[in-house]
Amino acid sequence: MRKVCAIIVAAGSGRRFGAPLPKQFCELGGRPVLMTTIDRMRRAVPEAELLLVLSSDFVEEWGDKCRKHGFESPEVVIGGDTRWQSVKNAVERVAADTYVLVHDGARPFVMPQVTDALIGALDSGRQGAVPVVDVVDSLRETIDGFPGSRAVQRSRYKAVQTPQAFLSDYLHDAYSRPYRKEFTDDASVMESAGYADIALVEGHSDTFKITLPRDLAVAGLCMDE
Ligand code: C5P
Repeated sequence: MRKVCAIIVAAGSGRRFGAPLPKQFCELGGRPVLMTTIDRMRRAVPEAELLLVLSSDFVEEWGDKCRKHGFESPEVVIGGDTRWQSVKNAVERVAADTYVLVHDGARPFVMPQVTDALIGALDSGRQGAVPVVDVVDSLRETIDGFPGSRAVQRSRYKAVQTPQAFLSDYLHDAYSRPYRKEFTDDASVMESAGYADIALVEGHSDTFKITLPRDLAVAGLCMDE
């Protein structure tokens, strides 16, 4: 069996969230959101070694919070100005021939059925695997000039979540190439490096990303499930 490493990226400033603290440090069930994310990842993939990516501005505060809550932190890696840079800094620490799950710290509810499906897809030889869910809103594509937009067929599109799974050797290669602003997740980085054989596995509606303050209230409800 291959080694598994889970990279949890939590070095963002959370500008859309509008709270003094980045969203991954806000309280969920009396502790920082990030502690739930780490606990759920440990429960879903017990064999995984974890790397936690933090901004250098929050390392000391994270240490204080871990002591306060008696929480054992994974090894910490310092992040960068973009999610891409944060992932790259952690990927550089991962050994060859390892399955890597890259996960957003702001998505606390990691589901074991999803991580099992991701690892199963890599076992079957796919270059990568990402969890997806259906899009619920209607979609329009914006186009320059009149009439400005057009309807697209919603059933052709999926919303992509994390964790996203790849073999470390492919990740090392893809993250050694230059940054492009179109990169929004790891699958887009991999695809642009030519690793386009990416399996889609069923995601989970609870694995949403905490983006706005009301998402924290919804996350509170998911804690009780
Ligand atoms: O900003 P966004 O919600 O897309 O961030 C997704 C995840 O990436 C968050 O968990 C965030 O903390 C992380 N991130 C990071 N380093 C950055 C920007 C975002 O680790 N520079």
